[in-house]
Amino acid sequence: MANEKREQTPQEKADAAKAVADQDKAATAGVELVNLVVDGAPIAVPKGTLVIEAAFRAGSDVPYFCYHPRLTSVGACRMCLASVELEMFGQRRASIMATCTIPCSEGMVVKTQTPEVKKAQNGILELLLANHPLDCPICDRGGECPLQNMTITYGPPTSRFTEEKRHYPKAKVISDYVVLDRERCITCMRCTRFADEIAGDGQLDLINRGAQTEIGPFMGSSFDSNFSGNTIEICPVGALTSRQFRFKGRPWEVKSVDSVCSKCGNGCNIAVGHRLGEIVRINGRINEDINEEWTCDKGKFGHEYVNSDERLTTPLIRDLDGKLQPASWDAALTKIVEALKHYKPEQIGGIGSTRATLEDNYLFAKLLKTVVGTTNVDHQLHPYPFLPMQTSIAELESAKKIVSVGMKLEDDQPIVYLRVYKATRKNNASWIKAATVAEALPHLDSETVVLLPHTLSEADYAAVAATGAKVNLLLPDCNSWGAKKAGVDGGEMAQILSGNLKMLYIMGSDPVVRYHDPAKAQKAVKQAEFVVVQELFLTETAKLADVVLPAVSFAEKDGTFVNIEGREQKIKQAIAPRGDSRPDWRILADLMARLGKPLPYFSARDIYREWKKAQG
Ligand code: SF4
Ligand code: FES
Repeated sequence: MANEKREQTPQEKADAAKAVADQDKAATAGVELVNLVVDGAPIAVPKGTLVIEAAFRAGSDVPYFCYHPRLTSVGACRMCLASVELEMFGQRRASIMATCTIPCSEGMVVKTQTPEVKKAQNGILELLLANHPLDCPICDRGGECPLQNMTITYGPPTSRFTEEKRHYPKAKVISDYVVLDRERCITCMRCTRFADEIAGDGQLDLINRGAQTEIGPFMGSSFDSNFSGNTIEICPVGALTSRQFRFKGRPWEVKSVDSVCSKCGNGCNIAVGHRLGEIVRINGRINEDINEEWTCDKGKFGHEYVNSDERLTTPLIRDLDGKLQPASWDAALTKIVEALKHYKPEQIGGIGSTRATLEDNYLFAKLLKTVVGTTNVDHQLHPYPFLPMQTSIAELESAKKIVSVGMKLEDDQPIVYLRVYKATRKNNASWIKAATVAEALPHLDSETVVLLPHTLSEADYAAVAATGAKVNLLLPDCNSWGAKKAGVDGGEMAQILSGNLKMLYIMGSDPVVRYHDPAKAQKAVKQAEFVVVQELFLTETAKLADVVLPAVSFAEKDGTFVNIEGREQKIKQAIAPRGDSRPDWRILADLMARLGKPLPYFSARDIYREWKKAQG
């Protein structure tokens, strides 16, 4: 029978693409092929491929809920039924089977569109819906819900069940971020498998048995995984929803912009969801080299600062009474230009940002080094060497022996943690968590991948490098590498914060809190005669400034972040800047023009091109 085509959802397309890519990888690696026929199309797939995955390759449409290409198969929902004909006990038999549980075998014949298959799928949906509440109009998942979509395509038009549905208390808060509507759960076990197989914390499990089965954290505890937000995205029915996004808008009202997370140096690919000028949610986006499709909770839920009412929305100038007062851009920039002209270049210092874009930092370095002529420019709040990672994030999962030093990876480098955990689970790797370099040294050899924080001494880095281990220094912020690559270095932070400089220009950095010697930073900022701070908030450093300029967040500008691996990735503007705030690069370009050096920059892209050209 001809395959009846329907438009697949983006998630289904992504799942199928992943399954097909895995098959290609296995075939390239020399895994033996088996031949089968799916809906009349002869295909060859690597041994071990599941029938549902072979159907993806053949372009057939198989509905599913519990199947997920990154999780082990459990066959829990029975939605992926198809007619599978194979050799059994010396006879060829065709039966209706759950295709996510059966590996392909030679000579199999699979039919996904027969009347019997349709009837069986219809029956499964009728059963799954027997107790599922008619919550769609008030469910956050409504509009992007696999159960809703499959019901429309494969389900019965009406229900024969007239009995009262099961009722449980609704909207049970199970963590800081996640709400459980137990009535909606179809016990597909995607969330529990995620907790066990991907996050490795096993914080969700099935509780009770039969009709009483529910998912949840261990009795009396809460779901405090660092990766809980991913369960919201993979739950196919809206049983797990986000406390942050709940009732903030319907999915079809949320516009989405591809970007990169700004919360650490891993560089996870994300989709920034916004509605009415505010970010309402962050979802993971697939990048097999970095985050696969996952995010940590810091990245997924840590964006509320962008919408904060505490954001700076207008320039501030310190008045004669010593108070910071709102001012126009013209007044603020005029004051800065006067100061830049007033002090000698060697009396001026600049601190760039490990959280601003490469383009912002490039113009910062250009303004201070080329236009003003000072060499006192740096960004490192804690000194560290620039050592390119010797093992990429993706390669970590193939390591056999991993030693991490002085970090809690799941907090400090969450996506690196997921790969390391994957290596232990799939590759049987050993993972030694050493508190210090001295503790790590006896375990290091040329076969070891070692993960180091950025806070060690030079002697420690040298001692680790001498063992021949693959050294991976994990930098802290979303653009630590970018600040270096953009040229915001060459000066000595110790000199910039020595207290001898008369003017400090600080962009997107809070040395009074984050410098490794905060008291020294505070003294230096207080001692300087003129301090400019470009920031999102009135930070402790900004409170001491003479002029404060409101900058924009990662969601309000275009640009480039360079992750811990040195990988350049683009961020894109999703929402309009708050109030009168401006992108850092635009502020700097304006200052350069006022200093008589107008530059042809109309976008972050123009700056990136110039920087790239300068790299040769
Ligand atoms: Fe599946 Fe969602 Fe229930 Fe978890 S909560 S078992 S993901 S339906
Ligand atoms: Fe196959 Fe659930 S998708 S049993």
